Amino acid sequence: MSSDILLDLENVNVGLVRHDREVPLVRDATFRVRRGEIVCLVGESGSGKSVTARTIMGLTQLDRRMRVGGAARFDGTDLFGLGAEAMRRLRGRDLSMVFQEPLSSLDPVYTVRSQLTEGLRRRERLSPRAETARMLEALTEVGIVDGARVLRSYPHQLSGGMCQRVMIAMALLARPALLIADEPTTALDVTIQAQILELIDGLRRETDMSVLLVTHDMGVAADLADRVAVMYAGRVVEDAEPLPVFAGPGHPYTASLLGSIPPMSGRRPVRLPTIGGSVPDPSALPSGCAFHPRCAQADERCAQQDPALERHDGGAVACWHPARLTEAPAAEGALR
Ligand SMILES: Nc1ncnc2c1ncn2[C@@H]1O[C@H](COP(=O)(O)OP(=O)(O)OP(=O)(O)O)[C@@H](O)[C@H]1O
Ligand SMILES: [Mg+2]
Repeated sequence: MSSDILLDLENVNVGLVRHDREVPLVRDATFRVRRGEIVCLVGESGSGKSVTARTIMGLTQLDRRMRVGGAARFDGTDLFGLGAEAMRRLRGRDLSMVFQEPLSSLDPVYTVRSQLTEGLRRRERLSPRAETARMLEALTEVGIVDGARVLRSYPHQLSGGMCQRVMIAMALLARPALLIADEPTTALDVTIQAQILELIDGLRRETDMSVLLVTHDMGVAADLADRVAVMYAGRVVEDAEPLPVFAGPGHPYTASLLGSIPPMSGRRPVRLPTIGGSVPDPSALPSGCAFHPRCAQADERCAQQDPALERHDGGAVACWHPARLTEAPAAEGALR
């Protein structure tokens, strides 16, 4: 039976083994992505978004220092139980990722053409002429006008923004069931960024592709997301539809993120400005709720016990003092 849930993460933990102790990079991360849905994963720098994304792709596991626990199911398959070969087959075909650093994920010794060909052949066998046409079409979709030159180029001959677009074209050529896009538009100017987000949004409508979009930009999340998962210090601390998140966040951390969006941010790239304090180092997490030292609402219990992610109507919040949805947004003054 095919369920409408394509990706299901339950209590996913990632620990980095260092000097015989395990540093928790991701802690009990729990969220779901339904078919055809865009889930935005948001949170400050260092909160564990990329590690979570790379763990779903089976890439964290290639590093011997990393310990991965919990459960991740993709279309009913236990991702953490798959062998390396089965995982490799899934990657690039049903599961595609656009990495945060495009240059490091393109292979410097191959032309763009040969790298795109690999992605394309995972999906379909075409004549060389039809392959070229598909590749040029994919490059045009991401705003590349001189596709023929780009196909002949090596990554070092292209700008960072161009490499990022090539990565996106490559991820989309495979027509994946789930696209994981980690800050896919950071090196791009605003017009191209909007164009690419529209392309991704259009594809999920046409092909029922699901998207896990990692972004710093709450404006993008507000525009595109069907659900928003908020990460802090390796944990998902809030998970809900955008309307409740933006109209009345349950977690003081979400409120503080929203308090940091300039009004009318729209599709402009909004980098999260510094909000009081910073994400704790995973090797020195505070006791209790990891957010408590920065939270104006914290009390003794927050300093001692870490709240569980509690489900409520349509969402989940991990906080001892969640704002009720009827309360006014606590955007101002949620932070000390
Ligand atoms: N390969 C690694 N080895 C050691 N520590 C790592 C590794 N990758 C990530 N970390 C640590 O894990 C934590 C989470 O990092 P991650 O890259 O997931 O953050 P992020 O939310 O993606 O941040 P950003 O928004 O800056 O991309 C950070 O403290 C980071 O230093
Ligand atoms: Mg990251």
